[in-house]
Amino acid sequence: MTTVPASDAAIAQAGSVIRRGGLVAFPTETVYGLGADALSAPACARIFEVKGRPRFDPLIVHVADQEGALQVVAGLDARARTLAERFWPGPLTLVLPKTERVSDLVTSGMPTVAVRVPAHPVALALIRAAGRPIAAPSANPFGYVSPTTAAHVEAQLGGAVDVILDGGPCAVGIESTIVDLSTPAAALLREGGTETAAIEAAIGPLARRAGTLPVNAPGQLESHYAPRVPLRLLAARAAPGDGGERRGLLAFAEPRPDVAKRFSVVEVLSPTGNVREAAQRLFACLRRLDDAGLSEVLAEPVPDSGLGPAIRDRLVRASRR
Ligand code: TXA
Ligand code: MG
Repeated sequence: MTTVPASDAAIAQAGSVIRRGGLVAFPTETVYGLGADALSAPACARIFEVKGRPRFDPLIVHVADQEGALQVVAGLDARARTLAERFWPGPLTLVLPKTERVSDLVTSGMPTVAVRVPAHPVALALIRAAGRPIAAPSANPFGYVSPTTAAHVEAQLGGAVDVILDGGPCAVGIESTIVDLSTPAAALLREGGTETAAIEAAIGPLARRAGTLPVNAPGQLESHYAPRVPLRLLAARAAPGDGGERRGLLAFAEPRPDVAKRFSVVEVLSPTGNVREAAQRLFACLRRLDDAGLSEVLAEPVPDSGLGPAIRDRLVRASRR
């Protein structure tokens, strides 16, 4: 087992693993990350190898505060300062012009770098223990569902990473929102754990722009976050006729008994019908359905409020193959 509880001693040791060029999986408030020294190209190369990630898909760099961000970005303009003050630490990633300390491997050759301050005590302590910024994508094989527990990471990457710090399940459960501030018009690149409306309330309307990357990167690719089992989105709540022998249901709230009994497996995103709870449970529910030997999973629509659109984005991508 490479998993250890995230004690102070384990975090200190993991920090030296990062400094020596190793790989540490660690909890953030969104999902678990697969971390390496962001200033070391060989260390970051291992991330791409272990994930099976194409080199054209750049990494997010994690720092402990705004001062840490200035190690990797050329500066924080007024919009960046406003967002950083309001949302860091938290599930918001900013894309900004990079400094030359950041290798081309991290940014896939682009002149910009994605940076965020995670709102998780273990992640922040690890960055401080390492004494440098940590590059980390989600700690899952490329294209698969992101991990929200240490056990998810252990199951898929356990043999390939040096340490997995177990800090319990992630509180937000979906990845950070990504905003590109490298151009005059701020643009939304990925919906995520920070509500788009809250960002727009702070800095004004965001452009919806696709294809800012050399090639469309996977967070923005059509098929991503995908379980192996085929997943189909329902247009409305499941009706009694929708079931089948080896079908699973991903319900938003508790389904009616006559609906539930038509499915072999039912996973409920939010027993209380709350969108935040649904986000927190989304990836674990998808993994359980994926491991249940089903021929198909039907997913109910999620309400449009709060993190609803970000959840829907994951489900749409999970349904494409
Ligand atoms: O919540 C999160 O963001 C998690 C945790 C671990 O922090 N990380 C995460 O990383 O989701 P990853 O690699 O799975 O997704 C990062 C996304 C990719 O879609 C990548 O294309 C985009 O960020 N990205 C990274 N650098 C970029 C850049 N310079 N410009 C535009 N997009 C960038
Ligand atoms: Mg990912």
